[in-house]
Amino acid sequence: MSSFLRPLAYRHRWIYDTVTAVSSLSVGGVEKLRGLGLDALKSRLEPGTAVLDLCCGSGEAAAPWLAAGFEVTGLDISEHALDLAAKRHPALKRVEGLAEDPPLNDHQFSAVQLSVALHEFPRPERAQVLSSIRRLLKPGGWLVIVDLHPAGPWLQLPQQLFCALFETDTAIAMLQDDLVAELQALGFTSVGQELLAGDALQRITAQTPENNTPQHQP
Ligand SMILES: C[S@@+](CC[C@H](N)C(=O)[O-])C[C@H]1O[C@@H](n2cnc3c(N)ncnc32)[C@H](O)[C@@H]1O
Repeated sequence: MSSFLRPLAYRHRWIYDTVTAVSSLSVGGVEKLRGLGLDALKSRLEPGTAVLDLCCGSGEAAAPWLAAGFEVTGLDISEHALDLAAKRHPALKRVEGLAEDPPLNDHQFSAVQLSVALHEFPRPERAQVLSSIRRLLKPGGWLVIVDLHPAGPWLQLPQQLFCALFETDTAIAMLQDDLVAELQALGFTSVGQELLAGDALQRITAQTPENNTPQHQP
């Protein structure tokens, strides 16, 4: 369930961009929010390697990776968002598809980014998305997730309001779950979590084992 504002924000990009601008103030602005994935991983990756921005939307969080010289593929289910990405970030390779079953080869990427997107998935689909990421990553490849986390006392109310207006029940469910434990259960290693923006946001990094074998969905 979500309010009427959510579809409106996806249809009219200026609403989406304004909401993002306001909610990113807690991390220091939109640029900072968009760069959180790259900042976490750039020192761990060879320059120019292949990176996937899963659920890339209009490509705003892929842009810092492109600017840093990585070869970036963006996957999204929305043709409308990918059309916008083509206009805003022409260097982004675009793939239309489902994050639960991406039409991409095994072991293709050195890193996968999921920027404010994992909360869009119900629990079973979330597990599918994370398993797909393991399949797509090279052995020793990195995942970075930036997403909601239960806010501390100062931002609890604004977070509840934001979720009520713009998010679905899947976001509320994810706020109750331990993503670190979930990643560990799926076989990711070196799982690290950092809390940002008064705890309202989490940045998680995790690695695939050196003997990463593809884990296909049944
Ligand atoms: C909140 S937006 C985040 C966009 C982008 N990652 C960013 O940081 O600006 C979530 C995106 O997930 C995409 N999405 C939702 N469900 C999806 C699915 N099953 N497969 C692929 N993309 C999906 C939506 O189309 C939307 O572009």
